Amino acid sequence: MAAVDTTQIFKTDIFKGKVLLCSGGGSGICRGMTEAMVNHGANAVIISRNFEKLQQAADEMNKATNGGEIFPVQADVRKVEDLENAVAKTIEKFGRLDFLINGAAGNFLAPFDNLSYNAFRTVIEIDLLGSFNLTKAALQHLRASNGAIINVSATLHYTGTIFQQHAGAAKAGIDALTKHWAVELGPSGVRVNGIAPGPIAATEGLSRLAGDLLDPEQIPVQRVGDIRDIAQSTVFLFSQGASFITGQTLVVDGGHYLQTCSPAYPQSALAAVPDNDSKL
Ligand code: COA
Ligand code: NAP
Repeated sequence: MAAVDTTQIFKTDIFKGKVLLCSGGGSGICRGMTEAMVNHGANAVIISRNFEKLQQAADEMNKATNGGEIFPVQADVRKVEDLENAVAKTIEKFGRLDFLINGAAGNFLAPFDNLSYNAFRTVIEIDLLGSFNLTKAALQHLRASNGAIINVSATLHYTGTIFQQHAGAAKAGIDALTKHWAVELGPSGVRVNGIAPGPIAATEGLSRLAGDLLDPEQIPVQRVGDIRDIAQSTVFLFSQGASFITGQTLVVDGGHYLQTCSPAYPQSALAAVPDNDSKL
């Protein structure tokens, strides 16, 4: 069950003339989300703290994608003035704003005893407050275009993952915002959904949190996620095909978190299961 290219599934011009603003869009999962939107016709502004990294990512993506253009703007999601500038630059460059992805995040493994006051606050400020800040700065333009938002979440807080209380608390807050915004902004034409990725290969997040420890056989679909898995969900949730979906966080994890709620069941143990079929 390998991941497939989004361009094999959706028409390539469905976002022609539309504009995306994506925090964290210069790397990893959010870069893949941005590339998929651009490959379907959208223009995009990507923001993060490190402008050199952003510029390089934009140059590479502009070469690798067909469709729209990608424009980098330096911004720290903890600084409201940076975000107001990024939104103004988006309008100046592309004239409108249709889609917002709140993807910027920071994370690390930290046992309670090693998690300082400032470490907990830092992750809440980047992930949760950063999502609020960027959405507030962008909202009037999203309303004007009957736009849509995707908040990037996680599954950590579904099960109380060890050493992850800072990120779990931030993502739980983000999931709440997804619902509150869906209800409050829906009547003015703005849809709001979330995507909760499971373990995604070749990302900073996976290398920081799981390293080599993750066994693909512990994931029901028997593989680690691919950035394209999240990209496809992004294209779907922003598409007209999802126009009746709002306030939902789509878990894209191959069943991983469900499996973590259930004891591992080695294939060898199947031999011990009684054959009930013969008694039917
Ligand atoms: N374990 C425990 N505490 C840690 C830590 C770790 N691995 N890494 C950082 N911290 C603490 C710092 O010690 C500091 O606390 P202190 O002042 O009490 O010492 C606090 O977190 C803030 O660290 P700082 O480096 O000043 O923050 P920053 O704003 O420069 O960077 C981070 C933010 C810490 C989240 C950084 O890891 C980052 O930039 N991450 C972005 C990329 C990322 O995390 N990708 C994965 C997304 S899932
Ligand atoms: P990543 O590449 O490190 O992405 C995080 C991005 O956020 C970086 O581009 C970083 O760029 C930016 N960023 C961090 N702090 C910022 C700040 N203060 N202001 C602006 N931008 C900031 O990691 P990833 O693994 O792809 O994660 C992407 C998203 O998916 C995150 O929301 C993460 O929580 C979520 N997620 C990932 C996984 C996974 O398996 N990887 C699983 C579940 C959820 P700069 O350093 O340039 O600022």
